[in-house]
Amino acid sequence: MRFKKIFQNNEKWVSEKLSIDPDYFKKLSCGQNPEFLYIGCSDSRVTAEEMMGVNPGEVFVHRNIANIVSSTDSNLNAVVQFAVQHLKIKHIIVCGHYECGGVKSSMNPGDLGQLNSWLQSIRDVYRLHQNTLDKITNQREKFDKLVELNVVEQCINIAKIDHVQRQWYKTGFPTIHGWVFNIRTGKIIDLELNMDVVFADIRSIYDLKPHKKRTKPFGN
Ligand code: CO
Repeated sequence: MRFKKIFQNNEKWVSEKLSIDPDYFKKLSCGQNPEFLYIGCSDSRVTAEEMMGVNPGEVFVHRNIANIVSSTDSNLNAVVQFAVQHLKIKHIIVCGHYECGGVKSSMNPGDLGQLNSWLQSIRDVYRLHQNTLDKITNQREKFDKLVELNVVEQCINIAKIDHVQRQWYKTGFPTIHGWVFNIRTGKIIDLELNMDVVFADIRSIYDLKPHKKRTKPFGN
């Protein structure tokens, strides 16, 4: 696509929006009230809003290579804090996708330069589930499984975040969802994680307020 085409597209988009509602941008500029925080991969093929069929203002979005939730990532932490504390979002979605380049690179040992440290957490996911993964002989199935396991692990990482836990104790929200975008069919797969069960297993390690009772379950 030509660079200039983007501005032509933009003009067209603006006129389309205004033809439906002359106050569209006036309303948009007044503020946002999204219910969802979406954390997905930077992959150009996985566009959060388009595949979810949502409008501007409906989803708060954070994207990075291979949808990683890292406790030392100040960008991610700021996004999560803002989303739960100020926007009071109800759902956090971690969405991976099949054929993810970041996950694929992590499947085999090798020096990836700057990406080494970023992708190390996916290698850690592999190590955690090595018994399961090494049993899968079909390479594509193994790749798909690692994509799924990475999503689960990143959902667990969301549950470890202090801002998320504080909000849980206060309101019972947000609910955490693990998704995989099947890039071969276009469908979103809900891994249907029950975070209540998942977190119960690790609560003795990661619960930041072990003596407080939650108002509602973490999960579905
Ligand atoms: Co990806």
